[in-house]
Amino acid sequence: MIDKQSPLPIYFQLEHFLRGQIENGELAPGDPLPSEREYAEQLTISRMTVRQAITNLVNAGLLVRQKGRGTFVAEQKLEQKLSGLTSFTEDMKARGMTPRSTLLSFEIIPADKKIAERLALKKHTPVYEMKRIRLADEVPMALETVYISANLVKGLTEKVVASSLYRYIEEELGLAIGHAVQSMEAAVANETERTHLLVSKGAPVLLIERNTFLKDGKPLEYVKSSYRADRYKFTIDINR
Ligand code: GLP
Repeated sequence: MIDKQSPLPIYFQLEHFLRGQIENGELAPGDPLPSEREYAEQLTISRMTVRQAITNLVNAGLLVRQKGRGTFVAEQKLEQKLSGLTSFTEDMKARGMTPRSTLLSFEIIPADKKIAERLALKKHTPVYEMKRIRLADEVPMALETVYISANLVKGLTEKVVASSLYRYIEEELGLAIGHAVQSMEAAVANETERTHLLVSKGAPVLLIERNTFLKDGKPLEYVKSSYRADRYKFTIDINR
């Protein structure tokens, strides 16, 4: 697998070889990787060279280093299409996964300037603020804070938001959800995100903001979410 006569750097050859093993499933998600020492001895190359190949694959998200445990093949990312206005519950069920939410807080607060603007309300109008950890098959995927006008969506309870908000809005209240404007940007997980998403220092997250509207044009929700960038990949269909 290593050709020392090749003009290609040795770390690059090893990286390419390991990438191939991950892609063809010889190394499966969760598998431990042999140690740097084992590779170095087996291939008669330096540990530094092995480390460089492994570090590149860690940076590319294909391997994960766990303190005191070693290096493992990363879980495959969930691919999420950005073409439809779906809920977390629907997305996970469509994949055959079980969605669950842990409710971190649920209260009615007076809208501040930004929330009032996003929901087209007067400042200080009462809005629900709920923070949820969204899990798929018990793995935390995203941390989400939703703001919703308390006069528009009535009767919200902790039980409702622990399951599906969209289901309640559509099926119980009979409101028609229309469209949303969404933005996405990269960030490094802050302390709160690290705690709830169980990721380590320096881990990347995708910050998503969604402003959802009812079919009649009324703003329905303003949502800020942090998705684990090591577990999520978003795809979009584009036409020329
Ligand atoms: C996604 C969206 C949120 C929306 C939520 C509703 O996570 N990013 O804007 O509030 O779905 O999900 P559910 O119906 O599962 O509560």
